[in-house]
Amino acid sequence: MKILRTAAEMTAWSNQENSQGRTICLVPTMGFFHEGHLSLMRMAASLADHVVVSLFVNPMQFGPNEDLEGYPRDFARDCDLVERQGGAVLFAPDHEEMYPEGFQTQVLVRKLTSPLCGRKRPGHFVGVTTVVSKLFHIVKPRIAVFGEKDYQQLAVIRRMTQDLNMDIEIKGHPIVREPDGLAMSSRNSYLSAGERQAALCLYKSIEACREQVRKGKRDSLRLIDGIKIILQSHPAVAIEYVAIVDEITLTDCATVDRHSILALAVKVGKTRLIDNGKLIIE
Ligand code: PAF
Repeated sequence: MKILRTAAEMTAWSNQENSQGRTICLVPTMGFFHEGHLSLMRMAASLADHVVVSLFVNPMQFGPNEDLEGYPRDFARDCDLVERQGGAVLFAPDHEEMYPEGFQTQVLVRKLTSPLCGRKRPGHFVGVTTVVSKLFHIVKPRIAVFGEKDYQQLAVIRRMTQDLNMDIEIKGHPIVREPDGLAMSSRNSYLSAGERQAALCLYKSIEACREQVRKGKRDSLRLIDGIKIILQSHPAVAIEYVAIVDEITLTDCATVDRHSILALAVKVGKTRLIDNGKLIIE
């Protein structure tokens, strides 16, 4: 497996491959890989000649009281897992490489970053769009793959690539879940056994809401009240938001239709978890 540490090396490699007509699919990550990341890598491999996995824990997208320092890291294990996926290039720059002395540019997507996670995490999405723009310029992929668990992130990145005429196709990968329904996340490693059990209420409430919709209930406020009752029944769970939004604009839906997404964010103990799902599955 090739590990590249500098932007110059990465771009030189990409220029060489692109000039030979070989396509690159980028999987941007912050490491500590789990099956969700590996599925993104497999999807990427099916879409292009080369897969580039970027691994960079991006300080710009963490707020002052968030878990940047404690964010789980295991570079040796991550390298091993990428190696086993077969043939991917790992781009793993350090902080100075991505944000050298004098760095002062940011990329901001306005409206889509205001609701949901944007309300609780001011500055988060500007950190994401800035680093993803940099990765796109450095890696020069034809396609990039992102997980649908970070649904708002995916919507924001789609908007950014469209607004800035970036010639990159953005693909979403369905949420990868544990057998009991918990959405895979590097942050699950923070959960105690009891918290992990409580965290299942996220998936359970999505399923319960789908069931209500199947029975003909379409009023979002009533459905949200029902979900809150499920989430609040767990003492370890504190709700950050429960919203039913349009899948493209992320604005609230008064009534559920086939474009409606249920989006959830909670704290389980000290760990912030998000999940989402379409309410009408065709
Ligand atoms: O989803 C993530 O892991 C990060 O937000 C991303 C897209 C790699 C940007 O740092």
